[in-house]
Amino acid sequence: MSEPSPAKPTVSAAPGARPFRPWVPRPREAPADALTQLWLLARNPIDTWSRAHYERPVLWGKSLLGHVVVVNDPAAIRRVFIDNSANYEKDPLQLRVLRAGAKPGAGDGLLVASGETWKRTRRTMSPLFTPRRVAAFAQIMRLQADARVDSWLARRPGSIVEIDREMVRLAYDILSSTLFSEALASERTGFEREMMRLLDSIGRIDPLDVLNAPAWIPRLNQRRAAESRAWFETTIARMIDERERLIADQPDLAPDDLLTALLRASDPETGVGLTRAEVAANLFTFIAAGHETTARALAWTLHLLAHAPDWWERAAAEARGAPDDPAQWLEELPVVKAAFEESMRLFPPVPHLSRMALEPDVLAGVDVPAGATVVVAPWLLHRHKLLWSDPDAFRPERFLPGARESIDRFAYLPFGAGPRVCIGATFAMQEAMVALTCILRRVKLAPVLKREPRPVLRITLRPDDRIPMYVHPA
Ligand code: HEM
Repeated sequence: MSEPSPAKPTVSAAPGARPFRPWVPRPREAPADALTQLWLLARNPIDTWSRAHYERPVLWGKSLLGHVVVVNDPAAIRRVFIDNSANYEKDPLQLRVLRAGAKPGAGDGLLVASGETWKRTRRTMSPLFTPRRVAAFAQIMRLQADARVDSWLARRPGSIVEIDREMVRLAYDILSSTLFSEALASERTGFEREMMRLLDSIGRIDPLDVLNAPAWIPRLNQRRAAESRAWFETTIARMIDERERLIADQPDLAPDDLLTALLRASDPETGVGLTRAEVAANLFTFIAAGHETTARALAWTLHLLAHAPDWWERAAAEARGAPDDPAQWLEELPVVKAAFEESMRLFPPVPHLSRMALEPDVLAGVDVPAGATVVVAPWLLHRHKLLWSDPDAFRPERFLPGARESIDRFAYLPFGAGPRVCIGATFAMQEAMVALTCILRRVKLAPVLKREPRPVLRITLRPDDRIPMYVHPA
């Protein structure tokens, strides 16, 4: 690793300085034609949005995906996710993308399950993510975050760390030590490689999927995804075998983590547990849904804070005065939390949500025919001109107590909403707060490159390039 000279601040640190506006793609002046749309969907779907998408509450029309309604009106979004949620199912394209490479007969994890299977699985797993259970992980999260900061501080001041990779590793270490009690710890290299490959292949929407071509026509992304899934299947099967043996031979020694909990969990209504295929599918779901999302959110937050030194200083001062118990950090550090929430507004880790209307409906005065795809895109919603002032600026004050209460619940959806809201939201928020607090109180990061990373949608919103930063002791 090279160790160039320490950073020269390139951004004004003066209090009250103009807010930082991260790079954004220029919206298209007009919607893309069909061919361009196919190309953009495969390359970077956020480039498909036109100026009207950022300015109008609802847009509709025919596209390659059939009848599509893009909704940015909070009341209409509330109708999709809450008031009339039974009418809106996960749409077939999304399910095809998320299931890419899965073997036929492999159980559905919570993210892609539907109907009774989803209800039963959600009921069975909800008790594993209560705020009390999540708070019990705070100390381990802190140990992992501090260990990562230790590794930076062991280098010469002014060294460079690639913050995107570091956050992927930290999220991995936290997931592995909290949910799996280190059962995954020895797999880090393979995990990182296969997870990147998987998300990269399934996250590139295949034109054949958009065109609804028959399943027997081979897709390149399916083949790549299948190879990565095979690696996860083998690893997860081994984890389950080892844990089942431990539970059978020495039940008192089995750690009280997600792995044990899933093997022992039963539906509170029927007392029936999950099948082995369901346990495996859900372990995979938690690994896939819980890792990359949080890692990306953390990296974007550090990127934004490093370009807004006045906010960095405010958040760092608050982090240095944090109470001893990290379980309290989630609720007691409003500036750090506001910076994180503002970061998820600008760079929502899950930038695109969609549903299919089962029956006709009306959204914001627009007729929605049965079978239409309804798109609720946090990327658009969070930057919408009708909902936010100065939408492209990093202004954490929007989320400080006193201001945050006036944000419409359905104008800000980093974790979705309604029955299918993220089951790991509290876990993710606590993880992010602990990680940021440990980092802010001990180091100062400064951008190395003038060029900012561009957001690319591959299911999650990742940077198109590394994010190197100079690291100094605080
Ligand atoms: C910053 C981090 C995270 C973000 C932004 C995020 C975002 C989301 C969103 C937007 C949804 C709803 C998708 C939809 O409605 O179509 C979702 C669902 C889900 N998330 Fe998260 N997530 C995060 C972290 C986690 C973590 C840490 C876990 C688990 C440990 C997790 C597990 C899940 C699962 C299982 C679902 C499916 C829930 C269902 O359909 O019932 N997520 N997440």
